[in-house]
Amino acid sequence: MTDFDLNRRSLMRAVPVATAAIGGLIGTAQAQTAAPKGPVYAVKPMPFDPQKVKGMSEKILISHYQNNYTGAVKRLNSIGDQLASLDWEKAPVFVINGLKREELVATNSMILHEVYFAGLGETNQPGSALAEAIARDFGSMDRWRSEFMATGRALGGGSGWVLLTYNPHDKRLVNSWAADHTMTLAGGTPILALDMFEHAYQMDFGAKAADYVSTIMAAVNWSNADKAFARASKD
Ligand SMILES: [Fe+2]
Repeated sequence: MTDFDLNRRSLMRAVPVATAAIGGLIGTAQAQTAAPKGPVYAVKPMPFDPQKVKGMSEKILISHYQNNYTGAVKRLNSIGDQLASLDWEKAPVFVINGLKREELVATNSMILHEVYFAGLGETNQPGSALAEAIARDFGSMDRWRSEFMATGRALGGGSGWVLLTYNPHDKRLVNSWAADHTMTLAGGTPILALDMFEHAYQMDFGAKAADYVSTIMAAVNWSNADKAFARASKD
């Protein structure tokens, strides 16, 4: 499997709800009604050969995939178990705020990591439709790349994402900036993602975030981006 189809994500129905309680609130409703079930999210298979991403070590790619992406999916499932069992009428706001915030963080971490990894592999060029849209909306491919990479380098002292995003509101592509997993363009579809969290590069590049940005941009595989753009822009 080489393509992440985010629009057709398959959700298996839930396993039995966790018995853990938050302040005694979880499980109180279960005595009266059947335990609710939350969705279970599946870890996608690694969509690239970690030995064939030029300039990136197999070690960091596997670590990133297993610890950060897989960790986000597992965390999301755990949060889902907690939410499914919560007594919404009695739960304190700090419990609701905490769980819903972490649900969004884990969901976007899962989705954005899938886009990031789907853009790695054997290097190629974007298809004509995406290439023409990039040229239309940024002036040229070079101009787009310059903006995308500079935004990544600008995040190098901290962390976050740079996202080539299709904005259906205006039917155009933009490079959006995110300082954490929750900052994405409303209604936008991420087409290509650059992970600027230290776990994505520190093992290979130390603090040299700019070298990592250059390496990743030389290793982009556009096949998934072409498909994501075609789906997002078809209406
Ligand atoms: Fe990451």
